[in-house]
Amino acid sequence: MKKITKLAAIAALSSQLAAPVWASETEVVYKFYCAQCHGLTGDGDGPNVTEDFPVTPRKFADATEMAKLTDADIRNVIMDGGPAVSKSPMMPPWGKTLTEDEVTGLIGYLRVLCACEGP
Ligand code: HEC
Repeated sequence: MKKITKLAAIAALSSQLAAPVWASETEVVYKFYCAQCHGLTGDGDGPNVTEDFPVTPRKFADATEMAKLTDADIRNVIMDGGPAVSKSPMMPPWGKTLTEDEVTGLIGYLRVLCACEGP
């Protein structure tokens, strides 16, 4: 009984400690769905990207390339996937997975990673 109480206390404490890690909901969405390919910091070097990848995932840290995309372009490719914008099917569609708000959050997040604005 005593042990359980102690465990509960540790659980309560660690959930408090964990709070700042989950500071941004969008960051969590990005890490879960996008970082595997695009990389944690947007360098296009996530763990999923193997040598036989036919195209490099867009480097979100590349301000020059990212500044060419409007927010609407980014929304389209996230919702409908690469082929919808004549890009590689290696970029999956997320319209059935993510909510509108999550996609809006991601667009903002990509603008932070590139430190750029759209045209
Ligand atoms: C399975 C790997 C993979 C995952 C996961 C992935 N992408 Fe991509 N993404 C790609 C590839 C590959 C490209 C480059 C396609 C090309 O250039 O033809 C790309 C391109 C893009 C582009 C640039 C499109 C353009 O017009 O240049 C954006 C924006 C993008 N991805 C956003 C996201 C977001 C946001 C997520 C998470 C919800 C995500 N991607 C998840 C592989 C992935």
